[in-house]
Amino acid sequence: MSDEINIAIIGTKFMGRAHSNAYIDAPYFFDLPLKPVRKAACGRNQKDLKKFAKNFGWQSTETEWQRIVERDDIDIVDICTANDTHAPIAIAAAKAGKHVICEKPLAMNTQEAKEMLNAANLAGITHMTAFNYRRIPALLIAKKLIRDGKIGKIRHFNAVYYQDWLVDPGFPIVWRHNAKVAGSGAHGDLNAHIIDLARFLVGEISSVCGAQEIFIKERPFSNGEGKGEVTTDDATFFLANFEEGALGSFSATRFATGRKNCLRLEVFGSEGSIAFNLERMNELEYFSRHDDPGIQGFRNILATEGAYHDYIQAWWPPGHIIGWEHTFIHEVKDFIEAVDKKMGVQADFYDGLRCQQVLDAVVKSAKTRQWVEIPPEER
Ligand SMILES: NC(=O)c1ccc[n+]([C@@H]2O[C@H](COP(=O)([O-])OP(=O)(O)OC[C@H]3O[C@@H](n4cnc5c(N)ncnc54)[C@H](O)[C@@H]3O)[C@@H](O)[C@H]2O)c1
Repeated sequence: MSDEINIAIIGTKFMGRAHSNAYIDAPYFFDLPLKPVRKAACGRNQKDLKKFAKNFGWQSTETEWQRIVERDDIDIVDICTANDTHAPIAIAAAKAGKHVICEKPLAMNTQEAKEMLNAANLAGITHMTAFNYRRIPALLIAKKLIRDGKIGKIRHFNAVYYQDWLVDPGFPIVWRHNAKVAGSGAHGDLNAHIIDLARFLVGEISSVCGAQEIFIKERPFSNGEGKGEVTTDDATFFLANFEEGALGSFSATRFATGRKNCLRLEVFGSEGSIAFNLERMNELEYFSRHDDPGIQGFRNILATEGAYHDYIQAWWPPGHIIGWEHTFIHEVKDFIEAVDKKMGVQADFYDGLRCQQVLDAVVKSAKTRQWVEIPPEER
């Protein structure tokens, strides 16, 4: 490793920690062309920020993201903030010539996502929408099986993303309940992931028909003084047609009592099927109509060997499983390599935009109680 590349992270909580960990680990496990330097961290609360920077080894701090964008010692801006800040930060960072990683959902709406993509293209930077689940080895095997025609023509993509952290009506109101900050609730948070995986594995979605619900309309403020209105969906379900003819279903809810982070998907094809569950993320279920006639059934592939993907070779011997945090390490590795080679990386802002178009179409469909078409979009 010869040169260095300076990173700034904006947002210091959940994703701030996950991405920080990735910058620390990536150069130890992968032979990166550029060494990521944890140059600056940005958060609004000075005390929390200092502690975060010390814990994760960020060299300096800023309390306003505008300062990060102005600094000429920053090469990559990593946006780990609430959704309403993604567009202003990403656009300003791109205009300042910084490469940008932005958490999902890319934007608050399609218009913002388009502006972000335009700004990134105009600036010629490398950009990424942080759909980390694309970098799960089991799903890379799934993609390879699909690409190789092992499951034939795809008829169905059915996915659920279940969480249950809102079941208790006493759970306090947070930014995720505020449409002005989050854009949407379970939809942009959870459906965004499974929409991206649908596009990654199967292809573009052409039309949707959705329904949304807010079950608990008011929640207590965390200081115990009164209640605030919930303006984002607790659950959003939708049906989808894919351009290539498949029929899909998507369910995202924070009211799946007992389910903590249950992303399950099944892809059924004319010749076979695959199934995946994030809570068992090293495993992939695969069924082939042609293998082992007479003793047919799903086989369970332990995705810890390197035949179909190179991430896993950086880790442990076969059978020694990896975890959720590794998806972010893989993301950072790919991003830094792309920046070094001055090329694009998937998933980029175009993928973030396409996801956003599906999200927005579902909201429109739920409001109008009609199917909504999603027109093609040039890359
Ligand atoms: N890829 C994934 O698996 C995944 C998981 C969770 C969240 N996310 C996404 O990551 C983003 C952040 O979510 P989170 O769970 O980390 O939220 P969080 O509430 O844990 O952290 C949000 C952070 O953003 C900071 N912030 C908000 N506005 C800011 C501003 N104007 N300037 C500086 N800092 C600001 C907050 O202070 C906080 O540090 C969201 O877009 C979310 O959808 C992605």
